[in-house]
Amino acid sequence: MDKTEFLNLQAECVVLIKGYYPHVDVEYHSERESCQIWIELIDRNHFSISINDELRQFVIKTGQLYDVTSSPLVFSKISLSKDLRYFVKVGLNLFLESKHHKKMPWGILQGIRPIKLVHKIYKELQHELQHELEHEVMEAKTTLLASAEPIIQRLCQEYYVNEAMAKFAVEVAVNEAEYRPQSIKEAQKQCSIYISIPFCPTRCHYCSFPSNVIEQFHHTLYDYIDTVIYEWDCIMKPLLKSRSVSCLYIGGGTPTVFSSEELTYLLSELAKRIDFSLFKEITLEAGRPDTITLEKLRVIQSFGIHRISINPQTMNQKTLDTIGRKHTIQHVYTAYQLAEEIGIKRINMDVILGLPDETLEDVEHTLRAIGELNPMEITVHTLAIKRSSKVNEQLDHYHLPTEQETNRMVEWSMNYLKSEKGYKPYYLYRQKNMVASHENVGYFKGDKPCIYNIEIMEEVMPIVALGAGAISKEIDDHGNPIRCENVKNVEIYMERIEEMILRKKEVFKVE
Ligand SMILES: C[S@@+](CC[C@H](N)C(=O)[O-])C[C@H]1O[C@@H](n2cnc3c(N)ncnc32)[C@H](O)[C@@H]1O
Ligand code: SF4
Repeated sequence: MDKTEFLNLQAECVVLIKGYYPHVDVEYHSERESCQIWIELIDRNHFSISINDELRQFVIKTGQLYDVTSSPLVFSKISLSKDLRYFVKVGLNLFLESKHHKKMPWGILQGIRPIKLVHKIYKELQHELQHELEHEVMEAKTTLLASAEPIIQRLCQEYYVNEAMAKFAVEVAVNEAEYRPQSIKEAQKQCSIYISIPFCPTRCHYCSFPSNVIEQFHHTLYDYIDTVIYEWDCIMKPLLKSRSVSCLYIGGGTPTVFSSEELTYLLSELAKRIDFSLFKEITLEAGRPDTITLEKLRVIQSFGIHRISINPQTMNQKTLDTIGRKHTIQHVYTAYQLAEEIGIKRINMDVILGLPDETLEDVEHTLRAIGELNPMEITVHTLAIKRSSKVNEQLDHYHLPTEQETNRMVEWSMNYLKSEKGYKPYYLYRQKNMVASHENVGYFKGDKPCIYNIEIMEEVMPIVALGAGAISKEIDDHGNPIRCENVKNVEIYMERIEEMILRKKEVFKVE
């Protein structure tokens, strides 16, 4: 195993272990004395794992994993041509499973983008399938559906994903298939654009986004907008000579923390530079309901923005107070009603499951209340304990739902939104340190989902991201993303803008 692979395995094991010990700071150490879990790689076919002094020895033979500690036991379910790195993860996961008497919903899958794996397996199976379908030209969605069973089987058998999650992942992949660019070449001729507005009215206790409390920045907001526009002129002007646009996403933070004058200024400067009707979709992630006013919604509507977010997170006032999200439930209803009245049709609402002190009944109440509003999209997150959030810093102060309770919340939300309310899941991603190792899922109803969410999550479209903390991604000839990050600090971003433009020019190959 080379150094990079070893480092990857090290990081993957840490994440895997963390899933079983969600409230412990799991770290890698190279000395055995400092470790409760010790993994020893003996040679390409042998390794051992000890957890709190219980030792197990593993052998890889003819593509199968054996635990030879006691009576020889075949662990892996099928014969595979996989490497040591894969089998170490399988051995570790199965050992942890047997010690904790529980199964992780995503098995040994570490990545934050499980749907990417569904598409990878699908591509591997496609050759065979095309033969079966006698070369009929079929849509991606139909062929993906036709290979659902073998994909589910591989997710369960190779990656130890539980069957319900595997089925759900394939369902998501099917629902989003027709909205992805159908080839790398097609994607490389386009780009989507992200504009970062990293300001919020106040800071929520669970959040670690690089967002700034607006109060301290009022005096620089126009300078910030001008810097973003300058970045546009240096990058987008030359880039748009050779590429068409897909989506525009103005996100945050909370873009509606801007006054209606500031919003008008930003949008009109952008509109001077590009015809908004060229975009397949334009989103302005309003977010905090307490920042949404009729005046701002009128500005949004007048620029032809298709989609906004009004995010309650929970419909229980007590929880909003506990998580330091300083708005009321009434703000949610008022903002939603105003947006509907002035004719904004595509509204997304974010919720978080697993919030402090919440029970399944609280989640049911939240989703039923939102379900009654009947927005076109609902995004269901599971709480992630972010390192730099107040929830993490004061973990003892918060009473988080148990893993079983969180599992029930996730399961209930999936059933309710799909079966009772007719929503379809269309994008899914995972984050580090999610309560009960779950996932975030975007649901939609109506004629189409949010295309930008699919593009960014699946890394299938070049994204040029402008503003502080914005992360751009070019797509290389193999379909892999090339990242280019702007600094998070607003003042440093404005000071060092030339440097960031240069880097972006290199990545997107513009003069
Ligand atoms: C980029 S944030 C911005 C949205 C906007 N500022 C707001 O709060 O309404 C997007 C979403 O991520 C989710 N989120 C943020 N922190 C989270 C955490 N620690 N765990 C789970 N979801 C989180 C919330 O649902 C939030 O609406
Ligand atoms: S959750 Fe949204 S409003 Fe709250 S601090 Fe994070 S980005 Fe800002």
